[in-house]
Amino acid sequence: TNNIVIAIDGYSSCGKSTLAKALAKKLHYIYIDTGAMYRAVTLYFQRNRIDLNNEEQIKEALKNIHLNFHSRDYQTHITLNNEEVSEEIRRMDVSQLVSEVSTIKSVRKELVKQQQRMGRSKNVVMDGRDIGTIVFPDAAVKIFMTADPKIRAERRYKELLAKGESTSMEEVFENIAHRDYIDTTRKESPLVRAHDAIILDNTELNEQEQLQFVLDRVNTHN
Ligand code: C5P
Repeated sequence: TNNIVIAIDGYSSCGKSTLAKALAKKLHYIYIDTGAMYRAVTLYFQRNRIDLNNEEQIKEALKNIHLNFHSRDYQTHITLNNEEVSEEIRRMDVSQLVSEVSTIKSVRKELVKQQQRMGRSKNVVMDGRDIGTIVFPDAAVKIFMTADPKIRAERRYKELLAKGESTSMEEVFENIAHRDYIDTTRKESPLVRAHDAIILDNTELNEQEQLQFVLDRVNTHN
């Protein structure tokens, strides 16, 4: 096939999804938020009190989980067994558990398979932690995003406040550090920069500048 994949990986709350959405909109590609998939699985595990150390229970649960994206207006609309969970998966309690769930091999195997299927025949912008390394190692363009952890926490804190979630700056900062730690040190496909990924540090870049940075690379590629 000759479809194009743009892979965006990086640390938590770096603005990956903001950039990915803007790119998808500009290029008329499909945006796939893989973090939302790990979050939806986490929500299911939480609701059904799945024991994260019980491999049999996990395998059984995975068979009963059906995820779907409805990418109206380039926002993430994800359903878990036909229930819209797009808002619920952003809650702090889900954020606190998602990285543990994401270390589980069978969970990753299943979600990577689904992600590869989604990106096989269409032009996509996919964001996550292992897109350029594991899901699409042959992606046309790979971006590795990073930013000052304090700035990241501030941005995320403002977002959560705007949504009416009661949290503190400390809690948000700790959660980001916690997820980065688990994501970079886990055994199964840890977060690491693909050797051919371009680093984008957006500490001092606005959204338009970030978009232009990637568009320049996409244009060079074609
Ligand atoms: O992208 P987001 O921050 O919503 O992802 C939530 C969590 O899901 C991450 O902290 C990470 O633990 C996990 N994740 C992953 N692999 C991906 C996408 C997300 O392990 N491709």
